[in-house]
Amino acid sequence: MKFPGRRKNKHYFPVTEKERVDISQSYGDDDSFHIVGIDQPLVDIECNVDDSFLDQYQLQKGQSQLIDSKTCDEIYAILKEQKRIKGEFAGGTVGNTLHNFCTLSEERAVLLGAISKNITVGDYSFKYISSTSSKVDLNHLQPCGSSMGRAICFITPDGERTFGISKGCMNDLFKFDRLIPMNSGAEAVETALKLTRRWGYDVKKIPENQAQIIVCADNFHGRTLGIISASTDPDSRRGFGPYLPGFIVVPYGDIAALEKLLKDPAQASTIAGFMVEPIQGEAGVVVPPDGYLKKARELTKAANVLLVADEVQTGLARTGKMLACDHENVKPDLLILGKALSGGVLPISAVLTSNEVMLTLKPGEHGSTFGGNPLACVVARAAMDVILDENLIEQAEKLGNIFRAELKAMNAPIVELVRGRGLLNAAVIRPHGKNEKGEPRTAKDVCYDFADAGLLAKQTHTHIIRFAPPLVITESELARGLGIIKKVLFSV
Ligand SMILES: Cc1ncc(COP(=O)(O)O)c(C=O)c1O
Repeated sequence: MKFPGRRKNKHYFPVTEKERVDISQSYGDDDSFHIVGIDQPLVDIECNVDDSFLDQYQLQKGQSQLIDSKTCDEIYAILKEQKRIKGEFAGGTVGNTLHNFCTLSEERAVLLGAISKNITVGDYSFKYISSTSSKVDLNHLQPCGSSMGRAICFITPDGERTFGISKGCMNDLFKFDRLIPMNSGAEAVETALKLTRRWGYDVKKIPENQAQIIVCADNFHGRTLGIISASTDPDSRRGFGPYLPGFIVVPYGDIAALEKLLKDPAQASTIAGFMVEPIQGEAGVVVPPDGYLKKARELTKAANVLLVADEVQTGLARTGKMLACDHENVKPDLLILGKALSGGVLPISAVLTSNEVMLTLKPGEHGSTFGGNPLACVVARAAMDVILDENLIEQAEKLGNIFRAELKAMNAPIVELVRGRGLLNAAVIRPHGKNEKGEPRTAKDVCYDFADAGLLAKQTHTHIIRFAPPLVITESELARGLGIIKKVLFSV
C-alpha cells in the first residue's frame, strides 16, 4: 500500500520494518553532529565526519546546528554519496519548518514520529523523525477528516479512533472544513481575530491596516493584549495599554445597534467580523434576547462580515446543546472552543472554520509549539467521547431546568433574578446587610458562605453568582447542592 498522496520529497526516506531502530541508541554520539535545515528541509541528520568537513561548513561536533536549506542540501548530498550518514538514515524531511501549516496531512504522521520514535504509516516505518522534534509542529490547518486524526491513532492503542478532528466527530458534529488546534482559549481567540483580519484583507479586500472587528460591551475573551484591547472591563485593561486598534464596541444583545453599524456606509467596507459570546459568561451569564444570534447571523451574512462565536465557555454541552449557537440553529463562520474541549484536563483549544477563511493563512504565518500536541488531542478525543457517550448534552439541559426551577421556587429574598441555560446559570443578588468589615455584603461574601457550607460557586462582578457545576454532576448531587444554596440564602 502506498502512503496516500505522499508528496515527492528528496529527504523523505521510508524504511522497512527490519531497519527500524531506536534513535536513543545512536543519538548524541560525540563523533557525530546534527544538521537541521531551517527553511526547506525538515531534516536532522546524524552523521560521522572528519574535522576538515566540519571546518568547511563551520559545524560543531556533537551539536545540533541550524543551517540554511541550500547548505543543508549540499551537505546532505555529499554525506549521502560518501555513505557517511550514520546508520541507515531514515526519517527525514516532511515539509518545511516554516510551512507548519502545510496541509499535506501525511506529513503530520511523520512529525508525530518525533514523539513516538517509531511509527508505521501504511507499509512504511520510520525509525527516527527529526527536525523540530523539540517542537512538534502539529498545528497546521487540518482538513477535517484528514489523517492528522489517523496520525494520532498511531500513538494511541485503539488504532482507528481519532481525536475527532476527523470523520466521526468534529466534522460530523460541527460541519466545518478545517480546525486549527491551539492551547488556551485566549490563543484560540487571537487566532480567530487574526483569521478574521486576514480574510478581511484577502477576501473582502479591506484596504491595508484598516480592518475592524465588532465586539460586545462587557465581553470576556481572555487576557492577552489583543483581547484586552477589545475589552470594556477596566479591571482587565488598567495598566496594560497602549491597546491594539481595530475594535468597535456595540452593546450586547442590542441587534439594532449591530445593524446600524453594519449598515453604516462610513464603516461597512472595513468591518471584517463580529465576535460574540452566545451567552456572556464572565459578564454574569447574560443570555441575549431570543433571536439575537439568528438575526446577527443574517445581518453579518448580508454585510459580508464574518460571524465569530466564542464558545470557549458555552461550548460542548454546557448550555444543554452541543454549542450555545445551536439554540438558535446558527452556524458561525468561525467557532472558538476551549476549556471543555479536553474536559478541563489539559490545555487545548481550537478554531474551526471554512477553507475560505482558514486557507488565507499561508504556511508559516501562524503557529504554536504545543498547539494540537498528541497528548492533548487524545485527551480531547476522550472528552468528546464522554460528552457523547454519557449523554451530557441532555443531562445539562435536564439538570439545568431543574436547577433554575428550584432556585426560582426558593423565592429567596436576596435573589433578584435567576438566569442561564443548561448548566451555566447565575443568580443576581440584591444588596443585603454588611459583612464582617462593615461593608455592604456582595456576591463574594455569599460565595464564602456557600464554601463554608460545602458548595463552590464563583461571583462575577459584585452582585452575580455563577453556578457552573461539572457536566457529570448527578441529579442527587445537584439536589444536595440546591439544599446548601437554600440554607445559605435564607440564613444571610
Ligand atoms: C468566552 C471566553 N473566551 C475566552 C476565554 C479565555 O480562555 P483561557 O482562560 O483558556 O485563555 C474565556 C475564559 O474564561 C472565556 O470565558
